[in-house]
Order: sequence, then C-alpha cells, then structure tokens
Amino acid sequence: MSHPPFNRLDSSSASMATMIRGSDIATTLRAAGCVFAEDEARLLLDAANHPDELNRMVDQRVRGLPLEHIVGWADFCGKRMVVGPSVFVPRRRTEFLVRQAAMIARPGAVVVDLCCGSGALGAALSDLLGCCELHAADIDPAAVRCARRNVEPRGGNVHQGDLFAALPHELLGKVNVMLANAPYVPTESIGMMPPEARLHEPLAALDGGADGLAVQRRVAEGAAAWLAPGGSLLVETSETQASATERIIAGAGLRASVVSDKELDATVVLGWNRGAGEPSAFRPESHLLSGLS
Ligand SMILES: C[S@@+](CC[C@H](N)C(=O)[O-])C[C@H]1O[C@@H](n2cnc3c(N)ncnc32)[C@H](O)[C@@H]1O
Repeated sequence: MSHPPFNRLDSSSASMATMIRGSDIATTLRAAGCVFAEDEARLLLDAANHPDELNRMVDQRVRGLPLEHIVGWADFCGKRMVVGPSVFVPRRRTEFLVRQAAMIARPGAVVVDLCCGSGALGAALSDLLGCCELHAADIDPAAVRCARRNVEPRGGNVHQGDLFAALPHELLGKVNVMLANAPYVPTESIGMMPPEARLHEPLAALDGGADGLAVQRRVAEGAAAWLAPGGSLLVETSETQASATERIIAGAGLRASVVSDKELDATVVLGWNRGAGEPSAFRPESHLLSGLS
C-alpha cells in the first residue's frame, strides 16, 4: 500500500513521523491476524493525533480490541456512528434490517429501536427516511450513553430500561416500525465467537439464553400492544434460527415472514400487526407484503 501521510503531528514529534509508516503498521497488524491490515492501518493513522497515541492504538488492536472501539466509530449504512467502549459494534449484516425497514416505513413514522446498542439502526433509518419520530432504548447505561450521541443529533430520544419498560407510555399502540436486533446467540455458542466479540462486547449484548431466543420471545410478546394497526416488527436472527423466530413472532399474533440476503449473511423476520383496518406501515406494492403468510 502507499504510505498515508501522518498529517496531524506537531513540530516536536515531527522526527517520529518518518518512523511511522503505514506499511509497518499493516505488517504488524497482519502478523496479529488482522485480515484487512492495510485498511486498518490507514484508519488508525487517520484516527491518531500523536505518534504515542498511534502506538497505543496499534498495540490495542494487536491485543484484539475491536477496531471500532479504538477509533470510536463504525461505518454503518454509509454513516459514521459513534461506538463507545464496551458497546456492541453494529454489524454490516444488520444494514439489511435497516434497508427492509426503510422500504416499509413512511416518512414521519414512529420508529422504535429496541435493544439499540449504539443506536446505529434507528439513526440510519432516520437518515434514510428523512424524517421520523425516533425512540431508541437499551438496558445498558454504556449503550444508552453512546446511543444518545447518534440519536439525539437526529432529533430522536433515547431511553434506558428493560425492553418495553423503557418506552414512554404514550407510544402504546402507536409504533409504526419496531427494530430489534436483540441478543440471539445461544449461551453455549458464545465460547465459539471471535475473541473480539466474546472478550470486548458485553455478554448481555450477545447472550440470548439456552436456545438464543429468550429475548426475542419477550420482544414478540410485547410488540403487538405497542405497534399501531398495520405496524411492523423487524427482528434480526440467524439462518438456522429463522423458522423458530418466525414461529415466535407468529405465535405472538403477528403475521410473520422471513427475508434474507445471502451475500450479507443476513436474516430478518418481519412481523406485521394486522390490528384493525388497513396496514399503515406496509406499502401495498411492496414485494415484502407478498411474502407474508
Ligand atoms: C446484539 S446487541 C445489538 C445492538 C444494536 N441493536 C445493533 O445491532 O448494533 C443487543 C443489545 O441488546 C441490549 N439488551 C439486552 N437485553 C436487553 C433488555 N432486556 N432490554 C433492553 N436491552 C437489552 C444489549 O445491551 C445490547 O446493546
């Protein structure tokens, strides 16, 4: 790779600048097992304000800290989303859920991002819609602090608490789109996750109980009461858990359907609250509607 200039050095540290070469950093990162070592080297060079800071960042990466925790942001749906330490890093596959939601929701929709983590999902959807009433909620204070930095500048609100208990009561029966990337890893599979996740993301962000579906069950049970007639619930799951998640959502009284994207390895179960009257959140012409059973 070419050597990105380290262009934010003060004069006292200029002599060190010559020692900081992107290729050296990439070599170090590659030796530590980073697959995208050149890209990561460039991002670290860009994020550091001082050679000492750069050395510390490289060292953190070599020790396995997620890159996003080191630089403080993640690229999600083409936007830089703040990701604080110990907060779940939004995954590329989850962009699929947001794009599905964007096809369903109308501008001005009431959107809830449950189990919001960094708040990236709701923030990205808000950007795609141009305007919506956004509420995000999480049980973890670190996630809530982080979500505030992504959601509040977009005019949204962030609440702290256990699932629906966090939401303002005025939203009962009024939510048009509910996003939920809740924890869905079965407890005994957590040990097989990459160290970046299992060591640096909170257990509560990953652990979905014995079959991975414990939090999803609670989300599905509560969703119908909060959704407006015609409102939609979108739940990320895995390919192997998809039918179980679909059954859970159908069992909670919603019409359920699985959509997936092989390239992103993304699976989402859509639930539609038939409620009374016509669907307000699904566009009748949407291809999604035809898949609903
Ligand atoms: C898999 S992470 C997903 C975060 C975010 N939705 C994303 O995709 O980037 C799950 C999140 O659910 C939160 N969580 C777990 N149990 C919860 C509960 N009972 N109530 C609210 N949030 C919960 C965790 O704190 C974590 O931030």
